[in-house]
Amino acid sequence: MTEVYDGAVDKGLEGVIACSTGISSIVDATLCYRGYTIEDLAEHSSFEETVFLLWNDRLPTKTELESFQQELRSQMSLPKELLNFLKALPTKDVHPMAWLRSATSALAHFDPEAQASEPEAIQRVATRLTAKMGTLVCAFEAFRNGREPIAPNPEKSIAWNFMHMLSGKEPDPNHVKIFDTCLILHADHELNCSAFSARVTASSLSDVYSTIVSAIGTLKGPLHGGANEQVMLMLKNIGSVEKAKEWVSNALANKEKIMGFGHRVYKNGDPRAKILRGMSKEMTERSPEPHWFEMSTTIDDTVQKEKGLLPNVDFYSATVYYSMGIPIDIYTPIFATSRVSGWLAHVMEQWKNNRIYRPRGKWVGKEGLRYTAIENR
Ligand code: COA
Repeated sequence: MTEVYDGAVDKGLEGVIACSTGISSIVDATLCYRGYTIEDLAEHSSFEETVFLLWNDRLPTKTELESFQQELRSQMSLPKELLNFLKALPTKDVHPMAWLRSATSALAHFDPEAQASEPEAIQRVATRLTAKMGTLVCAFEAFRNGREPIAPNPEKSIAWNFMHMLSGKEPDPNHVKIFDTCLILHADHELNCSAFSARVTASSLSDVYSTIVSAIGTLKGPLHGGANEQVMLMLKNIGSVEKAKEWVSNALANKEKIMGFGHRVYKNGDPRAKILRGMSKEMTERSPEPHWFEMSTTIDDTVQKEKGLLPNVDFYSATVYYSMGIPIDIYTPIFATSRVSGWLAHVMEQWKNNRIYRPRGKWVGKEGLRYTAIENR
């Protein structure tokens, strides 16, 4: 007979080391991808180079980067049959993350290597998924606005294409640079909830697409990637800088969570939030609505003072995207457009040294019951 588990419960698996990983590390307030700090990468790298780094455990040479970029960019377009299928999906009252989850699942049916298990084929599937995620998000935006999706330009980066396909306008080069940095900052984050979800699905030896669909569903929640959208809705709800302090104090007094604050791992601040704060300042000051940054810093100061919590990646990214004119419900899909690269790195790492994830639950339910016939209940 299997023993009933009677150990301590690590609620939310806090502090549990669930696997070994060499992709990204968090030590105090320092985040590194493959040994490089996030500050270093944000300043010097590009999203496409960062993806190479995450998947290959080293920076590329110039020739390798050119060829990887070309490969990624050539894979950005979506099959026409898929677009026809996606066009039939409802978009009214459908969250873009829910649509993206369905669309990613549908994409698998158009990939002849979707079930592949050899490392080279998995890398090709990973390239396709990373290249196409942003194109899918922009197709959603086109469909819900009753227009045809704009085809990606293989001569341009994922960041440039995202901004172009989303708005239909030639993007401002400064916005593209800022957006590319946002993609770098969101690409991976050790054993975050969605990467863990991808790894759990991978551990049963399911296929790559299933791992990414699991991860998208996990990222969608407001305690994880969905927080960036909630931050902007909160700022809009507060309305003015003058009301911010009181609003936050009341919310904290009512034990409400302030979106974009707190973190399971960082207790001395999220390094990505520091970088994003600078970008938010720069972007909002140049935008027609500069008060969003002032409102954000007022909230930041109040939450720190009253609750001792610091902003996470989602707090200042909200105003960065808002100042670029990106629709609020597209913020979490942007997170997915970047994080797909990290999920894939985790899936590949999981399969290099796999064992199925199968923890135990501590039994707290009823015991020893006997079946009662329905007429006697
Ligand atoms: N606003 C107000 N209080 C918060 C808070 C927030 N954003 N985040 C945590 N707290 C409080 C909790 O209420 C709890 O207080 P208590 O001890 O008085 O009950 C304490 O801090 C611990 O929080 P807990 O929810 O147990 O931490 P966690 O490690 O389980 O969760 C998060 C981490 C990130 C999910 C949590 O901080 C949160 O919900 N933040 C808001 C959502 C968000 O921004 N998510 C994006 C993460 S990158």
